Amino acid sequence: MKRDGKKTIRTFADLKTAGERLALVTAYDYPTARLADEAGVDGILVGDTLGMVVLGYETTLPVTMDEMLHHVKAVTRAQTRALVIADMPFLSYQASDEEGLRNAGRMLKEGGAGAVKLEGGERVVPLVRRLVEAGIPVMGHLGMTPQSVRQFGSFRLQGKSPEAAATLLEDARRLAEAGCFAIVLELIPCELAARITAEVSVPTIGIGAGADCDGEVQVMHDLLGLFDWFVPRHTRRYAELAGVGVEALRRYVADVRARRFPAEENTFHAKEVGAPGVSKRRQASGG
Ligand code: KIV
Repeated sequence: MKRDGKKTIRTFADLKTAGERLALVTAYDYPTARLADEAGVDGILVGDTLGMVVLGYETTLPVTMDEMLHHVKAVTRAQTRALVIADMPFLSYQASDEEGLRNAGRMLKEGGAGAVKLEGGERVVPLVRRLVEAGIPVMGHLGMTPQSVRQFGSFRLQGKSPEAAATLLEDARRLAEAGCFAIVLELIPCELAARITAEVSVPTIGIGAGADCDGEVQVMHDLLGLFDWFVPRHTRRYAELAGVGVEALRRYVADVRARRFPAEENTFHAKEVGAPGVSKRRQASGG
């Protein structure tokens, strides 16, 4: 299937039907959204991992609607061909469906996103229905759902027992029936992810869920090695930008201290630009 046009939730469905994999990545600002789009990703998730990889929180729990909207707007300003999916932060949709609807609506109306993502299974089914009825495309998220980390105890594999696996499979079916256009499966055994993928009609997007999902999503900072203090097992480093960045900044610091920077080519002379207080006539006469 050709992938060069603007991606929509229809594209996601068509790619599953065609048996082609979807590649998604997170981005949280304008320049990285442009890089992701140039690389040809199908979807950009403005994930609430924002809290951990950009804002320095220990979990995603403190992230607010205002913080999410701020970053969603930056990403959508990049006018990407990729579908932009805005993550609903903790407590933006759990207190009531009414509040969930208003906050999800803000992601599209103010943020310019093409869809929202929210975590949970059966519990969020009524909300998913309401959002879809209101015209808001919804991506589901099952497995290791980071907003429940305090309940799980840590970021660990889910769906290990037969009962837990059966619940996840049923949750995925219910989310698809409720109208989710895709479902993220995070940190679950690959056999379970393969079964869910075979049994639900909408694309599954894995992260730590093996190679049989219909697509994959990864955190950009993990792929690019933008920090070097933690490498999750489910990711692969395609670059080591933290090291490259520190080395470049060290050279900058050394150049400034040694008076090698700024150099002549970085410098403006009064006679080129008309410096304040120097009249045009005096410049022209060289005075
Ligand atoms: O917030 C996020 O980036 C996510 C992905 C890891 C799926 O939910």
